[in-house]
Order: sequence, then structure tokens, then C-alpha cells
Amino acid sequence: MEPSQVTIIGSGLIGRSWAMVFAAGGFKVKLYDIAQQQLTSALENIRKQMKELEESGFLKGTLSAEQQLALISICTDLKAAVEGATFIQECTPENLELKKKIFGQLDLIVGNTVILSSSTSCLLPSKLFTGLKHVKQCIVSHPVNPPYFVPLVEIVPHPETDPSTIESTYALMKKIGQSPVKLNRETEGFVLNRLQYAVISEAWRLVGEGVISPTDLDLVMSDGLGMRYAFIGPLETMHLNAEGISNYCERYREGMRLVLNTFGPVPEFSGEIEQKINQAMSEKIPVVPKVLDARRKRRDEYLTGLAKLKKQMKSD
Ligand code: NAI
Repeated sequence: MEPSQVTIIGSGLIGRSWAMVFAAGGFKVKLYDIAQQQLTSALENIRKQMKELEESGFLKGTLSAEQQLALISICTDLKAAVEGATFIQECTPENLELKKKIFGQLDLIVGNTVILSSSTSCLLPSKLFTGLKHVKQCIVSHPVNPPYFVPLVEIVPHPETDPSTIESTYALMKKIGQSPVKLNRETEGFVLNRLQYAVISEAWRLVGEGVISPTDLDLVMSDGLGMRYAFIGPLETMHLNAEGISNYCERYREGMRLVLNTFGPVPEFSGEIEQKINQAMSEKIPVVPKVLDARRKRRDEYLTGLAKLKKQMKSD
């Protein structure tokens, strides 16, 4: 049987990673971009990554790198790119007007069954999809960078998205080995970034108030909280740190409220504190493309190792 086809619109960082995830899942992938050069470099980059992953034993899926590469083709004609697709994942730059224009174009050429999905990090579905003829088929599937190594996908519907679009997207994400979560309604920042920004802002305040150094602040997460969060979330942590949630609230409710009431206002993320944090981070990791790339590669190795460990431990 011919494998189902997905189309990726935009072949940058995220588009490439999605292409690899879908190919690993056995899907035919058409990569579309307005820039031919981007497509050529995307294919080269995907080939290099897949070969390296295969050599190190970390290639996803049951197909070889060559078999997965054979599933991916490139295209600069939008109509030809979406023809035959059951799922379209948009990965163009984070710009509302640009994305609206692209979804407007897609709306004119797609049929009534294909799912139109956006990778947007923070544009709300009501901003992106309102007024489209195919709004029932539209959804946000927000990945985490890099999607090949971090499986979470936030599925965020427009108020008019059909429930079957949500269910099919959820099932598809599961099928390709990602870890989807459903938001019942849109909210600024979705869920991942709301949690992330809560952490970042308190980190910023603590460093800004001179309570801790930037590098030690990072250690609190990487050698402390983050150790358990890779396996269990904050709510389960509460549950296990006492005799269940109710017992935790009974014991710690007052203390938590006392601490939370001392939290400061939303930081400006500029000025002296920015300089202080930038200096500390740049001493550790100079802002030079080669150094940053090497550190990103190391991050991906850590994530690969963690993914392997999670699989071994059958984390749920
Ligand atoms: P990028 O800048 O690396 O890639 C964007 C690609 O879109 C480029 O190849 C560009 O040539 C292409 N493009 C521009 N206009 C186009 C058009 N009209 N039609 C088709 N292709 C077009 O961007 P990146 O980082 O891959 O981000 C893509 C989306 O994914 C954004 O919405 C971003 O918010 C989201 N995202 C990004 C994450 C990240 O960490 N980079 C994480 C999660 C989501």
C-alpha cells in the first residue's frame, strides 16, 4: 500500500525536523518552500543528520536512513506540494500576516478532508484561522525544538475546529512517536510557554535580586527540579511528596502561598540584569556560531540519551 503523504510548508529548522519525524513514521513527505536554496540545504542537512543518527544507533523508526530519505521530496509549487496530502504542517516564520496569507492560499486549493496544521509557537488559532472556509480542518500542532528529540506536541484547536480534526491530529502524532497533549481551548502562550515563562521570570528575578548567580540558577534546574521533571510532572511530584495531593495541600498550602506572595512583578528582560546574565552565559558559552552550534549538538546528544533512558524505563 502507498504510504500516506504529508506536506511540510517551510523547510527551515522546524520543517526539517518534522520531515524527519514523519519519514521515520513511514510517511511520504513533500517539503515545500519559496526558496529553492532552502530546500536544497534542507535535503542535504536531513541526509547528514539521518546518516549520523543511523551510525550512532539513534535513527527513529524501522526503516533505514536511505529508505527514509527516499520518502522525502522537495517542491516549489504550492498546488503540486499539497496534492494528495492528508496532513499539511505549516512551518514558516512566526509572522501572523505571512501565516494568514499562506493559510488563505491553502484554503483555496485544498479539499474537505486534509488537515491544515500550524507549528506556530504563540499565534492563537483564532488569529490564524478565523474566516477560512476550511476552518473546521485547521489546528495548531506546536512542537518543541528539536521535535526529533523532544516529543511533546501541543494540539490547540480554533473554537470552530471539528472534533474529528483534533482526534485525527492526536492519533497521527501518536503514530509517528510524538507525545501529543490536547488543549481544550486556546490561551496566550499555550501551556508549555506559560510554564516556561513562569520559570524564566522567577529565575530572572532571583538573579536580578542577587540571590544566586546565573550559573548556579541553571544548576537548580538541571541537577535539581529537572531531574524529576524529565519523568514526572509537577502535579504528580506533589502527589508523591506527601500522602497524595490533599495531604500535600494540607501540609504545604500555607508555605506555598507565603512564598508565592513574595514573587515580584513581570521583569522587563532588559538593562542591567540582562547584561549580568548575558555576561555569565557568554563566559560559559561564547556567542560565536561555531561554539553555539557545538553546544546545540551536545544538547541534542543529551536529549537523545534521555529519550533512550525514558524508553528503557518505559516512562509514562
Ligand atoms: P525558519 O526561519 O528556520 O524557517 C522558515 C522557513 O520558511 C524558511 O525555510 C523560509 O524560506 C520558509 N518560508 C518563508 N516564507 C515562506 C512562504 N511564503 N512559503 C513557504 N515557505 C516560506 O523558522 P523555524 O525556526 O523553523 O520556525 C518555523 C515555525 O515553527 C514558526 O512558526 C516558529 O514559531 C515555530 N516553532 C519554532 C521553534 C523553534 O525553536 N525554532 C519551536 C516550535 C515552533
